[in-house]
Amino acid sequence: MKHVPTFSVVSGAQVHRSVSGSEERVTEVVEAAYRLHGEGATANPDSYFLRFPDRPSSRIIALPASVKGDVDVHGIKWISSFPENVAAGIPRASAVLILNDAETGYPFACLESSIISAARPAASAALAAVKLSEQRGVRPKRVGFFGVGLIARYLHTYLAANGLDFEAIGVHDLSAEHAEGFKGYLERTESCPVTVHERAEDLVRSSDLIVFATIAGEPHVTDPDWLSHNPLVLHVSLRDLSPEIILSAWNVVDDIDHCLKANTSPHLAEQRTGNRDFVAGTLYDVLTGTITAPADRPVIFSPFGLGVLDLAVAKYVYDRLDAEGDLATVPDFFHELKRYG
Ligand SMILES: NC(=O)c1ccc[n+]([C@@H]2O[C@H](COP(=O)([O-])OP(=O)(O)OC[C@H]3O[C@@H](n4cnc5c(N)ncnc54)[C@H](O)[C@@H]3O)[C@@H](O)[C@H]2O)c1
Repeated sequence: MKHVPTFSVVSGAQVHRSVSGSEERVTEVVEAAYRLHGEGATANPDSYFLRFPDRPSSRIIALPASVKGDVDVHGIKWISSFPENVAAGIPRASAVLILNDAETGYPFACLESSIISAARPAASAALAAVKLSEQRGVRPKRVGFFGVGLIARYLHTYLAANGLDFEAIGVHDLSAEHAEGFKGYLERTESCPVTVHERAEDLVRSSDLIVFATIAGEPHVTDPDWLSHNPLVLHVSLRDLSPEIILSAWNVVDDIDHCLKANTSPHLAEQRTGNRDFVAGTLYDVLTGTITAPADRPVIFSPFGLGVLDLAVAKYVYDRLDAEGDLATVPDFFHELKRYG
């Protein structure tokens, strides 16, 4: 029986309460969504990029998506990135996400979504780190964070929550202030030594797990020899590595069509070679054991970031608040409901 749903507004504070301390559960939710995506139980069309000729560094992206299975929801995330915000003391990214009922199409919730947008790539990269390390038979012990904003902080939380413990942590950022701020955060949460590397090369060479979370628009790490110790690279910011580095490594992505677009490093490698042979496969292929990451080459995971993962995490938050009786509904949100008045 179809009915018009109630409409709820979910605040950032509620999202934060639902995901923090539940990192392993959120990672399971993300893994389940990857499996549904791999099984064809999702729709994830291209993101739409709204850009501004007078503000080229800023953008707002729409990510519509649909997930079947237990999640069973449609929706869209609308996320803006205004990098100049950081200098003014407010976060770069802000977002909302709308959930639509699978049966009627009605929107039934609007969630603050910057926290989901940070938790989701962190869960996805931590999942990749765990599974790829298992396949390689090497547990990374020295992690390097290259670019240290909100995403790097969430990455650190999710790596730790998923059982990766480190003997040493390195930090590199173009901004000495950001590097020191992140070092201070790590020293409050970790007991191992934390080193700020002024030179990018020193960070890369001294880490066996490297997290790229910069806002670089084009490659700035270009020499494949920096990766001659065969590290595992979580290339979350997607545009840091030269085509030469991509082509010298074993590459895994979240979705091949999505990731080889918008001048990501894998996209540049495709433009250089005219083919996609350098992509071994997707994270789904890793999860199902269809492909196996080697230990004797650098391994690079480049996740474009799928809207279906945002939807799955948002639905998890919604269901949890619903079960706890903590949903704030907007009375009479849908009003003109009788066809003839
Ligand atoms: N792939 C995904 O699924 C996904 C999801 C969310 C965010 N992201 C990406 O993660 C990145 C980081 O996001 P954030 O919110 O933490 O950004 P942020 O602006 O808060 O932090 C980025 C940091 O990188 C530093 N930086 C910029 N260029 C650098 C360079 N060349 N070398 C070293 N440091 C550099 C900046 O000084 C800053 O401290 C963004 O590129 C964002 O698009 C990816």
